[in-house]
Amino acid sequence: MSRITLNYLRKLKGKGEKFACLTAYDASFAHVLEEAGIEVILVGDSLGMVIQGHDSTLPVTIEDMVYHSRLVHRGCQRPLLMVDMPFMTYATPESALMNAARLMREGYAQVVKLEGGSWLVDTVQLLTERGIPVCAHLGLTPQFVHQFGGYVVQGRNEESAERIYNDALALQNAGASLLLLECVPVSLAESITKALDIPVIGIGAGVVCDAQMLVSYDMLGITFGKRPSFSKDFISEAGSMPAAVTAYVNAVKTGQFPAPEHTFN
Ligand code: KIV
Repeated sequence: MSRITLNYLRKLKGKGEKFACLTAYDASFAHVLEEAGIEVILVGDSLGMVIQGHDSTLPVTIEDMVYHSRLVHRGCQRPLLMVDMPFMTYATPESALMNAARLMREGYAQVVKLEGGSWLVDTVQLLTERGIPVCAHLGLTPQFVHQFGGYVVQGRNEESAERIYNDALALQNAGASLLLLECVPVSLAESITKALDIPVIGIGAGVVCDAQMLVSYDMLGITFGKRPSFSKDFISEAGSMPAAVTAYVNAVKTGQFPAPEHTFN
C-alpha cells in the first residue's frame, strides 16, 4: 500500500472532494485512523498538552516530535504523515532546514508544519527548494499563545483578516503545499480557500475549507478541561473509538461537520 501524496490531495481539491485529517501520537491510534479512512495524520505538537500534560505546546522538543512521528509511521501505511515543527526550531531558515531534515530523515515526515505568517516566506522557500514540503499554519497559532493573550479567535477585525489573507497568498507563493487555518471567521476561511490553489485544512474555520482537522483526543471526549467549541465529541454517539473516527470521516466528507455551532462568524 502506498502513502497518500500531496498530488492526491491537490486532485481532491480540484474535484471539490473534502478530506479528513486527525492528530495521532502513537502506532495504535495511527492504525485506527488509517482503518477509518483518514487521509492525513498530523503528529501535532499538541502532544505537549494532551500527552505530556503541559498547559501549552511550548515545552515540546524536536526529539519529542521525532520520537512520536516514528511511532505513528510504524502504525500506518496509507495516510500522509505531517509533523509539527516545535517552538523555536524554525526561528531562522538555517535552523528550520536542519530540524525539518531530522523530522523527515528520522521521523519519516512527508510534510512539516510551521506556525506563522509572512516572516516565514524565506524559510518556506528554502525548505521547498531543498525538497521539504511545508504546510503553513495561520490564524490561531498556538505557539503564539502568550502574544495573543490566550487561545482566541483570530482575523475578526478588518486589519487582522487582511493580514492573514495576504500571509496565505505569500506563503503559497513561497512554495507551501498546504495551509492549515485555525480558529478564524468562516467568511475569511472561505475567501482564502477560494483564492488558494493549494488545499486548505480548517480547524475551527468552518465547513468551507477543503479539509478538516481535529485533535483526536478532543473528538474522543478526553480533553483536559473544556473541549474547544469548534470540536465535537464523536464517541458519545458512536460508542467506540473506531466508530467515532469513522463517523468523523463521513461527517467531513459529506459536509456535515463542522456544523454552524462549531463555526466562528
Ligand atoms: O498541534 C496540533 O495538534 C495542531 C492542531 C491544533 C492543528 O497544530
